[in-house]
Amino acid sequence: APIVVLASGTGTLLAAILRRSQDPASSFQIAAVVVDRDCGAVQIARDAGVPVVTCALADHPDRAAWDRDLAAQVSSFAPQWIVTAGFMKILGPAMLAGFAQRIVNSHPALLPAFPGAHGVADALAYGVKVTGCTVHLVDDGVDTGPILAQGTVEVYPDDTVDSLHERIKTLERDLLPDVVEAVVTRGVVTDGRKAHLK
Ligand code: GRF
Repeated sequence: APIVVLASGTGTLLAAILRRSQDPASSFQIAAVVVDRDCGAVQIARDAGVPVVTCALADHPDRAAWDRDLAAQVSSFAPQWIVTAGFMKILGPAMLAGFAQRIVNSHPALLPAFPGAHGVADALAYGVKVTGCTVHLVDDGVDTGPILAQGTVEVYPDDTVDSLHERIKTLERDLLPDVVEAVVTRGVVTDGRKAHLK
C-alpha cells in the first residue's frame, strides 16, 4: 500500500519508516516524501530514490492556500495512509478533510501530557521520571487525536533535552513503523475519541 510521509526535520524517523518499507515482509511503500522546508529528510528520501515534494508555507499567499496545495500534492500520490514524522506544521482543514482518520503522527511525549512543539523540553523541565512517545491519529487539534500506541523511557537525572529526545527517538524508530504496518494491514477501529488497532 502506498503511503506519503511528511517531514521537516533531520529525518531519522523517515529513515526508520523507509527501512521497514524496504523489508520484503512489509505491506507498505513510501510513494513520496513531502517536506515544508529543506531538511535532512530530503537527502534521505533522495538517496532511497523516493520522490520528494517541497510545499513551503512561504511559497503561498496564506496558510489556507498552503493547506490546499499540500492536500493536492499529497493526493496526487494516492496514498492509503499519511505519516507525519517530525512535520512541524499544524495540518489544515483541506488535509484533515482529504485524509480524515488516515493520518498517523508520532509525538515525543506521553499524551495528553506535554503536547506541542517542545514536548521533550517540557517533560524534562517538569521533572517527570518517565516519559516516552505517543503514536496517534491526527485530528484538528494539536497532538489531541485518538491514541494508537505508546512507549515509555526513563528520565535520568543528567538528561539533557537532546539525550532524552534521542532515547525517545530510539523507541519511535521501532514503534512508528510497527503501527504503520498494523494500520495498513489491519486498520483501526475508532470508538468516540478512542482508537484501537484491529
Ligand atoms: C520525533 O521525535 C517526532 O516524535 C517529533 O519530531 C521528531 C522527528 O525527528 N515530532 P526526526 O526529524 O525524524 O529525526
